[in-house]
Amino acid sequence: MSNIGSYEHHLEDFDSEIAKRELDWKEGELLNIGHMCSDRICQRGHGDRTALIWEGFGDKSARYTFNDLRVLSNGFAKFIRDDLGVGVGERVCIFMDKIPSLYLSFVGVLKAGAVAQPLFSAFGDESLEVRLKSAGTTAILTTQKHVKKVRKILDRLPDLRHVVVVEGNPDKLKEAERFFDVEAAPRVEEFDSFRADPESRSVIHYTSGTTGQPKGAQHVHNSIWSQALTAKWVLDLKEDDVYWCTADPGWVTGTSYGIIGPWALGVTQAVLDSGFIAARWYRFLQDHKVTVWYSAPTAIRSLMREGEEVVREHDLSALRHLASVGEPLNAEAVIWSEKVFDGKAFHDTFWQTETGSMMICNYPGMPIKPGSMGKPFPGITGAVLDLKTHEPVTEPGKVGLIAFRPGWPAMFRIYWNQEDVYRSKFVGQTDGRTPDELRTADDLWYVSGDRASIDKDGYYWFVGRDDDVINTGGHLVGPFEIESALIEHEAIAEAAAVGKPDPVNMEVVKAIVTLNPGYEPSGDLELSIMNFIRKTLSPLAMPQEIEFKDKLPKTRSGKILRRYLRALEWGEDVGDLSTLEED
Ligand code: PRX
Repeated sequence: MSNIGSYEHHLEDFDSEIAKRELDWKEGELLNIGHMCSDRICQRGHGDRTALIWEGFGDKSARYTFNDLRVLSNGFAKFIRDDLGVGVGERVCIFMDKIPSLYLSFVGVLKAGAVAQPLFSAFGDESLEVRLKSAGTTAILTTQKHVKKVRKILDRLPDLRHVVVVEGNPDKLKEAERFFDVEAAPRVEEFDSFRADPESRSVIHYTSGTTGQPKGAQHVHNSIWSQALTAKWVLDLKEDDVYWCTADPGWVTGTSYGIIGPWALGVTQAVLDSGFIAARWYRFLQDHKVTVWYSAPTAIRSLMREGEEVVREHDLSALRHLASVGEPLNAEAVIWSEKVFDGKAFHDTFWQTETGSMMICNYPGMPIKPGSMGKPFPGITGAVLDLKTHEPVTEPGKVGLIAFRPGWPAMFRIYWNQEDVYRSKFVGQTDGRTPDELRTADDLWYVSGDRASIDKDGYYWFVGRDDDVINTGGHLVGPFEIESALIEHEAIAEAAAVGKPDPVNMEVVKAIVTLNPGYEPSGDLELSIMNFIRKTLSPLAMPQEIEFKDKLPKTRSGKILRRYLRALEWGEDVGDLSTLEED
């Protein structure tokens, strides 16, 4: 029997207190996410249960019980609060590979009352700088492997008071850097976790939009209710599960469902910190008897490419539930998974950094229509809005903008220091309303920036994004960020970055550039530009193709017509050029 039982039934009986009842949480209990993911699980008698099974490159491995998680996160919390003097609400960046300290420190930062700002460890110095500057980050926790990137930008980050290295050789540190190895430090049995109220800030995730640099979506401790309930009902997590979320906590899936949701339920998580190799992934599933697996379409398509033989070489009989997020899950991938994993199909889920928790899902027990994202989570009012009038579309199959009535607990509270951009995500009468009033208004829609249609049975079908943001392998990259970096390359005069179709990653980045006088197109130059972006931004942002042009198409006011260039890549009808002009 699945946790959710009947989806239809919950549409009728849903109330805002259900999550609390499902977690057996009583008013007056401490609501700090860090505490709820560790201390509370121990207080309920599960301190000896495994919280984290970890494997890294080579044969590195480790295991932590919930009691270990409690004590070691206390260690981080005490270090952050007492040794560094980081105050409540200050941002602490966690910049490391998927090593145990990432998970332990995330819980510790929240216990200390600071805001966790996880950033993808493959980010180059420029991606890092933009996000640390925007958040006014006070402290960064990193490793010897990545600290060089921090050193490069430190001078330009006046707010960054502490650089802490949590793994590596302490003798290799610069003078102002601190070394803190939580496992070598004295165990901290007791820590007085920050008494968060529901609206206390918890996690900030940077996400890319179509214009401007990435924006910091600010979340609060109250998000735990949405995250735990969806983990319970959609991922169907039960106390004896071994659950693997393949996402990196530098992205929202890796925190909402790679840390918070499952640990709030006291579930064992398995983490594999090594690159993608199909046989390695299957061996990991087999060795740890993973029962529930949350992954992404690009990974699933990559597994499909490796074929069925390698699946059959492994005993995956423990697997019982599969789910996916981040990009459209094509029908073939659903059908393939059902075939090779013994009748278990990947269940697509749709949500965003801003929503903080799953919004449209396929539920255990509800028939899957392969290729559809499913239906809105109980308690969530979803719609697709007419592209022009912004009225909810009533006609089945008609394409519109995916929108939700605001106000669920995990919804982001603001884009950090960018209230105007936050406001622009709502349609309806927004004037004169505070950010909190927008979030709790029952006459407004929060618009996701994606297009979909709803069929006669209420299933949502993804159509595409409503903007130029590039989704590569389930990771959003902003064209503006790439273009800004491209024109820093000495050879480039002007640049546009667009997504082009890719059979595995859905989209990859393509750059279209003009060159400065004295530079000629060449294979070497192409490589030099690619490497430049890989190093300064990230491997995800690196263009897979560079097209050299004499000039770029522009609007009358001189702005590059990126949408026109994008339409060309997708073979779309570019129609009347004036409709493609950006404001
Ligand atoms: O465009 C949609 C796509 O990913 C975007 C959100 O990306 P991000 O904020 O990085 O969060 C990713 C994981 C929660 C969405 O606006 N997206 C996410 N899930 C799906 C999807 N597109 C199609 N189908 C999905 N299931």
